[in-house]
Amino acid sequence: MTNGGVELKTPYYLFDESVLRRHITELYDIREKYTSDDLRFCYAIKANPFLIPYIDKLVDHFEVCSWGELKICMHYKVDPDKIILSGVNKESGMISDALGYGVRVFTAESMHQYDEIVRQVEKTDIQIRLLPRLSNGAQFGMDEHCIEEIIKNRDNHPSVNIFGIHYFTGTQKKKFSKIESELKLLEEFIGRLKSEYGFEPELLEYGPGLGVPYFVGDDFDNYYTVYEELVKYIADAKYSYRVNLEMGRFFVASCGEYVTSVADVKGTPDAPILILDGGRNHISYYGQNMVMKTPIITMDRENDNEAVPCDLYGSLCSFNDMIARAVMISKPQIGDRLIFESIGAYSITEGIYLFLSRDLPAVYIKEADGSCKMLRDSDPTYGINA
Ligand SMILES: Cc1ncc(COP(=O)(O)O)c(C=O)c1O
Repeated sequence: MTNGGVELKTPYYLFDESVLRRHITELYDIREKYTSDDLRFCYAIKANPFLIPYIDKLVDHFEVCSWGELKICMHYKVDPDKIILSGVNKESGMISDALGYGVRVFTAESMHQYDEIVRQVEKTDIQIRLLPRLSNGAQFGMDEHCIEEIIKNRDNHPSVNIFGIHYFTGTQKKKFSKIESELKLLEEFIGRLKSEYGFEPELLEYGPGLGVPYFVGDDFDNYYTVYEELVKYIADAKYSYRVNLEMGRFFVASCGEYVTSVADVKGTPDAPILILDGGRNHISYYGQNMVMKTPIITMDRENDNEAVPCDLYGSLCSFNDMIARAVMISKPQIGDRLIFESIGAYSITEGIYLFLSRDLPAVYIKEADGSCKMLRDSDPTYGINA
């Protein structure tokens, strides 16, 4: 990839707006097929905040989970009506900044958070809508009993309208059966809230954690199969409430690649070791622990049948920095560029960027008209470590 005719310096991330648009258009087309008008899209910006301006027109809401993420939304001038302020640690300053910015939808992940949100809202004449988050046993959300308490006493706080439930249990789900059992659990819980407390939610804010294919041999029938099963299920269920699908990975993974160059070649001719100018500090493929799986890697040159199995390492001077084993590459040379696919989600935010004080990779977007724009220059980190 070039920018103004100049080859981009590796390592870098490149996101493709057209791929993102095509993918989300496909999601809308499938939704249309089942006429699931009550299904909306909420982008969990933790997956890749750089894409906010590009996905803004394509989704209904943004899930924002930290004060820093809120500040990113302010930076991009995101419509506050699109924001759902979430997060397991909502500092009181984050809540007041959000209220000041115009955010009116909050999740509550604990009684303490609920009390603090109510306290701040009741000092103003603002009305907000609140989604208690149901726990699945981990550190997130509240147990059923706490949510019932909030709902039972909802009339005591008329400026805080409890208007639904928030639920997310985990990511990279490859089968619909797990998602189906979560939806059934929610149906049962919501049914009980209705029968016992007369509570009718308007919204289910639900993160299905849809998975994406990352590795050679991943057994996905089709990128959209589980999504389609989910849409069909929700359409058939004819809920009396709207459902927001709150997702990160599934929206943006496919639109990104990470490009890194071979910085050194050693080992033996039939089993070379390649040192890359990037490393695991820039790459986060969910499920790639212990390098048991091989990400999908392509090259910007012919890779013929003389290919030999190469072990790939990054520049981190750490035994943990093995990236992939036995990737077939013909005549590997210093300067070869390797392209790691499906890196649009989380790599940009989850990397261990400070280790070894290596520079942050640059970030580029290929815009819909084909032009390449730099979103962030490569940035040194040594100053943060000294
Ligand atoms: C509350 C919540 N919603 C949504 C997501 C997005 O998950 P995914 O990227 O699997 O769609 C996350 C991810 O951690 C999350 O914590």
